[in-house]
Amino acid sequence: MPLRILVAGAGGQLGGLLVRELRRGGHEVAALTRAALDVTRREQVLERVGKLRPQAVVNATVFGVEESEEDPKTALAVNAFAVRSLAEVCRSSDATFVHFSSDFVFDGAATSPYRETDRPNPGSVYGATKLLGEVYAQGAPRHFVLRVESLFGNPEGKSTIDRMCVDIRAGRTVSAFYDRTVSPAYMADVAAATRRLLEGKAASGVYHCVNAGFTTWHELAMELTRQIGSPSSVVPVSADGIASKVFRPKFAALSNEKLANLGIELPSWQNALSRALAAPPSGATPIPSSGVRPAFPRS
Ligand SMILES: NC(=O)c1ccc[n+]([C@@H]2O[C@H](COP(=O)([O-])OP(=O)(O)OC[C@H]3O[C@@H](n4cnc5c(N)ncnc54)[C@H](OP(=O)(O)O)[C@@H]3O)[C@@H](O)[C@H]2O)c1
Repeated sequence: MPLRILVAGAGGQLGGLLVRELRRGGHEVAALTRAALDVTRREQVLERVGKLRPQAVVNATVFGVEESEEDPKTALAVNAFAVRSLAEVCRSSDATFVHFSSDFVFDGAATSPYRETDRPNPGSVYGATKLLGEVYAQGAPRHFVLRVESLFGNPEGKSTIDRMCVDIRAGRTVSAFYDRTVSPAYMADVAAATRRLLEGKAASGVYHCVNAGFTTWHELAMELTRQIGSPSSVVPVSADGIASKVFRPKFAALSNEKLANLGIELPSWQNALSRALAAPPSGATPIPSSGVRPAFPRS
């Protein structure tokens, strides 16, 4: 059965891909950019989302890592209180809520991939506000909190991995951390997993939605040069040598086993890289916002 799905933050890199994936899956999607729905304005959220009566709301909005450290008030507003409003409207309209969170809820002191049952301990404003957002998201009776990290595979090439691909394809030297470990997430796989969760009957909860396995940034860059067949050299650098105001977890690998046990398997990050490299580099059309008019037929 096609669903009526509202995507908030449709102008973002993941939001845009989600809109395409959900429409491709036959669902009716109201793609709302910030201009159409400012998620920090509770009255607007209750009124506009309430009027549209979606069967599911997907929140792909975020106030970013560096910005959050500079402006904690806005970080709280976007990453936490807005999530509370969205969960509230999902509760009153009986809609499923999908919310995206982050590996930054962890402190990075682990030595094996984090599971959903591991205790969060954020070390940054961003991580703390994302954790609070997770708590609020769980206020919606049917909810999926999907922790993602190191997203890549956007046709516009905005992410660190996408920019690395551009440099390596051009034969330029790249520097990459040998002492920071991640489980990258291919956005096409995240979008497909989100669609399948919305279409299925999985239990509400927190899920790690990343590709299988983990890697240091240096290993990842080496794998890219291998797959691209580029003569680029990759310089290993230590994250300790980089001045940063923001705490970033050193070991941020996430286990995606809980999703895999539902039959939603995200392949290895190496496999995901090869599919991302084979995908057309650009040509994606911007996501048109559905505006503030109802995008769904009223029953
Ligand atoms: N990127 C990663 O590697 C990564 C890692 C871990 C977790 N995540 C999570 O994944 C999700 C998607 O991230 P992303 O990288 O796709 O983000 P993104 O590209 O930065 O997009 C975020 C979108 O949120 C919108 N937004 C911000 N404030 C808003 C507001 N008040 N009302 C409505 N829209 C607002 C932005 O609109 P404007 O364009 O108008 O600013 C932007 O379109 C987020 O939950 C993030 O925490 C991402």
